[in-house]
Amino acid sequence: MLTRVHHVGLVVRRLEDGLALWRDRLGLEISAQATVADQGVKAALLAIGRSEIELLEPIDEQGGVATFLAKRGEGLHHVCFETPDVAADLAGARERGFPLIDEVPRPGLAGSICFLHPKGTAGVLVEFATPPGDSVHAGHAGHGPLAGLALRDVRARSRDGAAAAELFTTRLGLERRGETTVAVGGVHLHFVASDGPEGLAGLILEVDDLVAARGALGALGAATTDEGVTLAPDRCHGVPITVAAR
Ligand code: CO
Repeated sequence: MLTRVHHVGLVVRRLEDGLALWRDRLGLEISAQATVADQGVKAALLAIGRSEIELLEPIDEQGGVATFLAKRGEGLHHVCFETPDVAADLAGARERGFPLIDEVPRPGLAGSICFLHPKGTAGVLVEFATPPGDSVHAGHAGHGPLAGLALRDVRARSRDGAAAAELFTTRLGLERRGETTVAVGGVHLHFVASDGPEGLAGLILEVDDLVAARGALGALGAATTDEGVTLAPDRCHGVPITVAAR
């Protein structure tokens, strides 16, 4: 059973540059950091409200993350759902006919993890993770003008948003929250209709005080829109980010 969005995985060219944004500028705290040789990455997890951000720097040029970086550049890579029993959810996905990347769970930064193939999940690369028993989630992030910073929505492009939402509810057990929106653990996954390539498209973060946040985010190209403050993806390592008022 999937209980929350454990993290969103982002590919960065250099981990230090990703940390300069997410830790130093946005004020998140590192909850775990390691080299995961198996995945060919140096990685860090940073708590952001109900969820976490996972930064991945490829260190093995034959690895999948290096290939992703070479083909698509920096940006959104995968979404990871927490489960108390990764083996059981992997077995369930196999029974329901999902194409898998991992046949058995393996160790990752978030604990015991596995990946489903994006061709079975509306172009979204999905990871399941069971964190180690002693892991603690900070539950708060940001400070000063960015107090209360939290992940609210993950956006994905989809040719048929309603069908994608149906798939994530009926076959992965997430909650339906609208025609093209599902949720788990307080974070929404929203499928935006698009004829372009399917897959993850952006993040919406929330803060306690949007006016103060806008002032603090000026260097990231903050522009005001109907939804909140939109940051320039080229200053955020390829990740389209909107910051909204809670
Ligand atoms: Co991950």
